[in-house]
Amino acid sequence: MQNFIFYNPVCVHFGKGQIAALTSEIPTQFKVLMTYGGGSIKKNGVYDQVMEALKSHTIVEFPGIEPNPTYETCMKAVEIIRKEGIDYILSVGGGSVLDGSKFMAAAAKHQGEDPWDIVLGKEPVQEAVPLGCVLTLPATGSEMNGNSVISRSSTGQKRAFGSSRVMPQFSILDPETTFSLPKRQVANGVADAYTHVLEQYLTYDVNTPLQDRWSEGVLLTLIEEGRKTLDDMQDYEARANFMWAATMALNGILAAGVVQDWATHMIGHELTALYGIDHARTLAIVMPSLMEVAKDNKRKKLLQYGSRVFGITEKDGDEDQRVLSAIEKTRQFYESLEIPTRFSAYKDLDIKPDTPQIVAKRLSDQGLTALGEKGDITPEKVEEILALCA
Ligand code: NZQ
Ligand code: ZN
Repeated sequence: MQNFIFYNPVCVHFGKGQIAALTSEIPTQFKVLMTYGGGSIKKNGVYDQVMEALKSHTIVEFPGIEPNPTYETCMKAVEIIRKEGIDYILSVGGGSVLDGSKFMAAAAKHQGEDPWDIVLGKEPVQEAVPLGCVLTLPATGSEMNGNSVISRSSTGQKRAFGSSRVMPQFSILDPETTFSLPKRQVANGVADAYTHVLEQYLTYDVNTPLQDRWSEGVLLTLIEEGRKTLDDMQDYEARANFMWAATMALNGILAAGVVQDWATHMIGHELTALYGIDHARTLAIVMPSLMEVAKDNKRKKLLQYGSRVFGITEKDGDEDQRVLSAIEKTRQFYESLEIPTRFSAYKDLDIKPDTPQIVAKRLSDQGLTALGEKGDITPEKVEEILALCA
């Protein structure tokens, strides 16, 4: 096992009616900036529940954080935070609202010239406005981690940064708030969380049997409860299990001591930046092809994954065949969520034939020329992976 630091101070309030906990989580004397997205919270009753819980607080609202939150939008909030003397940020919505809120929390306290330097990793987060969250979309794990992914409209970039200083102090997860999600967003959430586990688990073995079994447990739960959730969109138990699995998929616990990949996410972010494809959908396109290209590096784990998650055993063929079956089962899993795994299915997006070259160049321009757990996903390999996605 590798050395690691595990630090996760997020207080999770999980279950029905938990939004009421806001009243005691945020001190009454604090001036709160309540951030949200395009209005889903006004339609599903979440906005009213938050307002009820915070009726003794002073609240300034900041709506309009878009999916794939932009630097430009967040900087408008930074102005308000500074001008109004905001003490606390409350994010109410999905991963995008929360990621945007994390960035503005850090940007508002930033001393340097341009807070974009935080996103580029040029400057660490020294200080941040404290924040909490009411999560309405299980997917990203942002509710229990210090990561944030921000896009910059003016340059077409989409970049991630991370700092324990922007971890939410608390996160409220009431599965009932997610019942208003359209099927597509639920499917995206299952696929995103599933891929988060693969990024941390499907690499090379450094003797981490506990982390491996936790990862396999999260994968199996997402397969089983994801199916139940999509088959019955009002099934509370299934929704609760899926929601908790998505949180566990990216809260640091699976990552402790293991070797991680994340090349699929890096390539996927470029596809979102170029074509606006939903985050989870980019992952479902890239992951099966990446597994194919990196199958020698991942061989031992692919066999273990195939056996423990999909029940692929020696009677199903020799090792090479079992590796291919595990990859095929992964593709089938994404497709079972009605997420197409090939560019050819995204006809309305006009995906250019030279996309593999464009993405490889965009990554190398950022210095990302050695991706993957062994640093051998070079620009040429990125091209190879994306050519297989056709
Ligand atoms: O804006 P509103 O009106 O709220 O609508 C949202 C949005 O249109 C809607 N929605 C959210 N909760 C709803 C709801 N609609 C009905 N009922 C509800 N209860 O769903 C749409 C998508 O929301 P968004 O927040 O964009 O989705 P998600 O949570 O999947 O977040 C995606 C973003 O997170 C980043 C992605 O790159 C992307 O920018 N990621 C963040 C990570 C992290 N912080 O750790 C890791 C991930 O790998 C990912 O990269
Ligand atoms: Zn993701």
